[in-house]
Amino acid sequence: MTDLQDKRVLITGGAQGIGLEMALKFAGRGAEIVIADLNEAKLGEATAKIEAAGAAAWGFPVDVTDPASIAALRAKIAAEAGPIDVLVNNAGVVFGGPFIETPLERHFKTYEVNVLGVVAMTHAFLSDLIDRPESHIVHISSASGLVGLPFGSTYASSKWAVIGFSESIRAELRLLGHKHVHSTVVCPSYIGTGMFEGAEAPKATSILDPTHLAEKVVRGVERNRVQVLEPWMVKITPLLRELLPTAIYDKVAHLFGADTSMAQWTGHGGSAKPEAQAQPESRDQADAERQ
Ligand SMILES: NC(=O)c1ccc[n+]([C@@H]2O[C@H](COP(=O)([O-])OP(=O)(O)OC[C@H]3O[C@@H](n4cnc5c(N)ncnc54)[C@H](O)[C@@H]3O)[C@@H](O)[C@H]2O)c1
Repeated sequence: MTDLQDKRVLITGGAQGIGLEMALKFAGRGAEIVIADLNEAKLGEATAKIEAAGAAAWGFPVDVTDPASIAALRAKIAAEAGPIDVLVNNAGVVFGGPFIETPLERHFKTYEVNVLGVVAMTHAFLSDLIDRPESHIVHISSASGLVGLPFGSTYASSKWAVIGFSESIRAELRLLGHKHVHSTVVCPSYIGTGMFEGAEAPKATSILDPTHLAEKVVRGVERNRVQVLEPWMVKITPLLRELLPTAIYDKVAHLFGADTSMAQWTGHGGSAKPEAQAQPESRDQADAERQ
């Protein structure tokens, strides 16, 4: 979508974090913004920020895991805002920790929000996007959608699913003649939003600035980029994983601290982990034990 002026952008999970940052960047391009979020309490403040940036803004509650809630959202958007031109599937959750010590409900919740939520939102809104003269669907995946993530196995695999879904829908739309519906999948490493509080950025990279990443996403949309991979190391990661034998890849990942990056994850507020859950070893501890 080369011109975002007067386009209407719907962002799930838009009340905070990278969702809100993207909303502000889209607003800066002259777009109208609809944010939809489970966290109703934050919608008012977030829409006020978007309006202060000069854009028309609506904030609606939604639970992306509930098709009835999505249907109600679609009806509200149709009645109060008008049809959307861009859908950003951004809402997501993460529960870090050793797989076996993390309660099964948390693993299921991860797939419900990160995968089923994306499927349900796309199912509800894709016909609206097809009806527009030009439209765009953005999926926020993750760098962990390209490789494994110890202490974040269901999060990573949920993001693998998002990449597979995005790639399949993109090709299907082309085959069905809907070439005017563009698609972008975004795979960032850690972003400084608090979702991955405690996680360590792999060596030679840093935690991404949310505003900077949001600009990259919006630019990716304007250029109809199929993928936005950030930072530089993420761009070469799929190639490294394919080219290197697994034992060598594992060594490289460990050298950069990519495999232990989640070892000290705490998440928003640092208290998302149940008291009983064992702390995974830190990068230093892991190094010491391997020596
Ligand atoms: N923060 C990072 O390091 C990072 C890295 C890569 C990818 N991502 C992805 O970026 C996206 C946004 O992450 P963030 O860092 O801004 O996180 P965040 O926790 O700040 O924001 C996520 C938003 O999603 C909303 N949400 C959660 N469950 C929902 C549901 N069922 N229905 C509707 N809304 C719901 C939350 O209320 C919240 O406002 C996520 O998909 C995340 O997986 C984040």
